Amino acid sequence: MKRDIHIVGNWKMNQTLQAISDFFVEMSKMKMELKCQAWIAPQALHIPILKEIAFTTGAIAIGAQNCSEHDSGAYTGEISPLALADLGVEFVIIGHSERRTIYKEDNPLLNKKVLAALKHNLKVIYCVGETLLERESNLTFDVLEEQLAEGLKNISSDKLPLLLIAYEPVWAIGTGKTASAEQAEEAHAFIRSKLSAGAESTIILYGGSVKPDNIDMLLSKENIDGALVGGASLKAADFRALCSSASAYETRKG
Ligand code: PGA
Repeated sequence: MKRDIHIVGNWKMNQTLQAISDFFVEMSKMKMELKCQAWIAPQALHIPILKEIAFTTGAIAIGAQNCSEHDSGAYTGEISPLALADLGVEFVIIGHSERRTIYKEDNPLLNKKVLAALKHNLKVIYCVGETLLERESNLTFDVLEEQLAEGLKNISSDKLPLLLIAYEPVWAIGTGKTASAEQAEEAHAFIRSKLSAGAESTIILYGGSVKPDNIDMLLSKENIDGALVGGASLKAADFRALCSSASAYETRKG
């Protein structure tokens, strides 16, 4: 099994219909042979619109930034994984640090969400990462181990090919501070060592202030299989530059 390089845009709660239209008009003007996986997770309301654009352009997979642990029922305001699968959504991000911190989602809840999404054959990008205080207290590996062990419990082996991990040190998200390639590679290698069967084929993305000018340094490391990108994914020129850098890399041997 090989590992394709992935560039995943997390648009968070951004973009308007006009901005989306401008983004894709600009993307379509840029001639580029896409040799990496290019994915975008817009806010939930925009998913059907992006699905339609992606259907016509063909090149970009569309996902969600979160989903409920339930399929349906009296859960006002939630996003059903069943509805996502019904819409043809390809993937869902689960456990982003903003969900963990602002919405108090803990590992046991995230585990339920991971299992609920996998049940509908959605690909899952499960996010892990330490805070600055945890890093400075030498707790990085303990935190990652716990997030992985608790968040990824009871996944059946047939669903493992649907699982991707994103290592996002919380101190690097939206701060302009990127982990050094060595710090990121060390964490990625640790994460891979903690995954069970199939670890060699699991895609592990790095996230946290990834930009066109630091993507190459990150992708030069053998356990970094791509990036989960916030701010820089909102501008077509930057997203394209990231995809173009990623397209220059060979797929990894899994
Ligand atoms: P950033 O966000 O690239 O703006 O740091 C990354 C993320 O939150 O996934």
